[in-house]
Amino acid sequence: MAQEKLNIGIILGSTRQGRVSPQVGEWVKGIADKRGDANYEIVDISEYKLPFLGEGSGEEPGLQAWNQKLASVDGFVFIVQEYNHSITGALKNALDSARDVWYNKAAGIVSYGSTGGARAAEHLRGICGELKIADVRTHPTLSLFTDFENFSEFKPAELHLQNVNTMLDEVVSWSGALKTLR
Ligand SMILES: Cc1cc2nc3c(=O)[nH]c(=O)nc-3n(C[C@H](O)[C@H](O)[C@H](O)COP(=O)(O)O)c2cc1C
Repeated sequence: MAQEKLNIGIILGSTRQGRVSPQVGEWVKGIADKRGDANYEIVDISEYKLPFLGEGSGEEPGLQAWNQKLASVDGFVFIVQEYNHSITGALKNALDSARDVWYNKAAGIVSYGSTGGARAAEHLRGICGELKIADVRTHPTLSLFTDFENFSEFKPAELHLQNVNTMLDEVVSWSGALKTLR
């Protein structure tokens, strides 16, 4: 019997006006879609208008939609940008705004910043542990200096392609394995 394809959400971690994360997310999705091994979709935190945790009624449609979206996917690719050596407040709030729908799923990280967003990505790995998200090892790191023109136009170096595919190999295989636990 043919196995159903897994659903993988590519989560854009930034929400500010003028952000570059949609360019990076679309690039990852373009590579991913060519593989045909899973259903990949962009998940844009900004569309959910999430309240800061605890400040709303808890009944906001966006909050419910956010939880439903996370529940519908089997794994994640986080598009992570470095803000003050960590992840964005928007991504942290989005992580905090759900609980068990994160559990027992795999995630890859694609990060960017002046040092490839490495410090933000390492912070995210710590959070993943608490949310029972299995973050894979392979981690494409993009440089604001060499993979972007004027820090705004995304022009990724060719060498990242192999890394993105290896990361996706790991996300898909671990997502499949972890599905058996849910
Ligand atoms: C509030 C803020 C803090 C930042 N701090 C860092 C930093 O600590 N390290 C770094 O490499 N880049 C830092 N940057 C640069 C961002 O990584 C860069 O602007 C990137 O494009 C942000 O992603 P976005 O365009 O998707 O929002 C910072 C940017 C902002 C807006």
